[in-house]
Amino acid sequence: MRIAVIGSGYVGLVSAACFAEIGHDVISVDSDGAKIAALERGEVPIHERFVPELLSRHRGGRLRFSTSVKEAVSTSEAVFITVGTPQSETGEADLSFVDAVAREIASAVHGSKVIIEKSTVPVSTCDSLRQTLLLSGAHPGSFSVASNPEFLREGTAVTDFLYPDRIVIGVDDELSTSVLRAIYKPLISGSYYGQETVIPFSGYAHKQAPLIVTNAKSAELIKHASNAFLAMKISFINAIANISESVGADIEQICAGIGSDSRIGPKFLNAGIGYGGSCFPKDVQAFYAVANQCNYDFGLLTEVMRINAEQGPRFLKKVKSALWTLRGKRLAVLGVAFKGDTDDVRESPAIAIIQTLLREGVQVQVYDPAAMPKAKDVLPSKDVVYANDPYEAAANCDALLILTEWKEFSNLDLRRIRLLLKHPIVIDGRNLYPTDRMTSAGLIYYSVGRAVGVPEPMSSIARHGDAGLQLPLPTVIRPAVAG
Ligand code: UDX
Repeated sequence: MRIAVIGSGYVGLVSAACFAEIGHDVISVDSDGAKIAALERGEVPIHERFVPELLSRHRGGRLRFSTSVKEAVSTSEAVFITVGTPQSETGEADLSFVDAVAREIASAVHGSKVIIEKSTVPVSTCDSLRQTLLLSGAHPGSFSVASNPEFLREGTAVTDFLYPDRIVIGVDDELSTSVLRAIYKPLISGSYYGQETVIPFSGYAHKQAPLIVTNAKSAELIKHASNAFLAMKISFINAIANISESVGADIEQICAGIGSDSRIGPKFLNAGIGYGGSCFPKDVQAFYAVANQCNYDFGLLTEVMRINAEQGPRFLKKVKSALWTLRGKRLAVLGVAFKGDTDDVRESPAIAIIQTLLREGVQVQVYDPAAMPKAKDVLPSKDVVYANDPYEAAANCDALLILTEWKEFSNLDLRRIRLLLKHPIVIDGRNLYPTDRMTSAGLIYYSVGRAVGVPEPMSSIARHGDAGLQLPLPTVIRPAVAG
């Protein structure tokens, strides 16, 4: 099948590369000429596992790049729209990029093409898309419109695409159904998984990707509802963590208890400093706006957003509680990305926390395996030192903060960290360690939804299970851990 993918951002580029990987001839389009030229030269603009392999495998063969929507549409049978849908001032999704692309597509539509929205859009966008195409001159019989939401997570986007939990196609006519079924056939039939050069993924239980066929409006709602549900799951567990913390229970044990109920499941129950990224904050807000337009007050989502917004400030209170005062202190920060395995800092709770710390007069030594270049664009250079590894970040600091769930942060040499820190305090916003691992390394360990861990020689000077725990001043602690 000949496919055009309009928009070469995160979703567009991954989708284009994966469509080529499963055997299609793809043109990836972007209005940014510099980006297209870089892609043609072999540069990879995003930090995403397997994307470099896929681009080098298919570039110049089944995968081409262009700045011309017209050229791409006129030579393709299916056209995916993957342009951005940012948040507008009012919280709704701003669909002006989709609208602009639709007008361009209209001028090149002829024969019978399927135009498919893949960007996250509010329900009924397919209707508006159809109307815009018609108003912009497309002939009524020359196209169909469909929805095919993506469920790609940054960091695992390629395997999410090639080994999906499900493929959702929202179709209102025969042409869209047959074209989308044909596009995904290598995954639905399982033929892709038998190929020698297949992108590997050990966790895949099915040999055929499940296909869910719905009407277009349902598919549009599935996307928003999925993201809102996942965000709700995170806020729910964060609320439980806050209660757990104040009574001295253990959120990890609670999650093991509730997550083993197969109706709930263990995933997305990691308590922490809240969700961030380019999707959840924007999509929950946009879905709330959609509900409002349908005259439904979706108060549950307001609460999801409120709980999420409070996790950062709660964490900062913990930092203050551990350090007494902040001005003039030097803190090591591990992680600036909004989650592990990505260089993306958009809506990163870590960035918001660092910004507040800087305003409070703290000096910050940061390390992140991938996101530091992007952090430099948003953080003021003054008072932020970028380190080459976690140990350089920890050197001579009053405490160490863990703000992103990078795997490499869960396996630090803790005794080395203790020797490097001025005071043996770790405040972990991602619960990466069992408390006893930290305390046996001589570190006082604050985490989310668990009692504060205090090493044995210091245990008499701390009250466990109290969110407002007042630990002794670092100067009091220091002699107790010396040697
Ligand atoms: C999300 C959706 O998962 C994906 O299906 C959709 O297509 C795009 O949005 P992504 O934004 O890449 O993907 O990240 P995700 O892995 O879902 O994490 C989002 C945020 O939630 C991160 O800040 C992460 O740290 C946080 N999170 C996730 C938690 O705090 N706890 C968890 O248990 C899981």
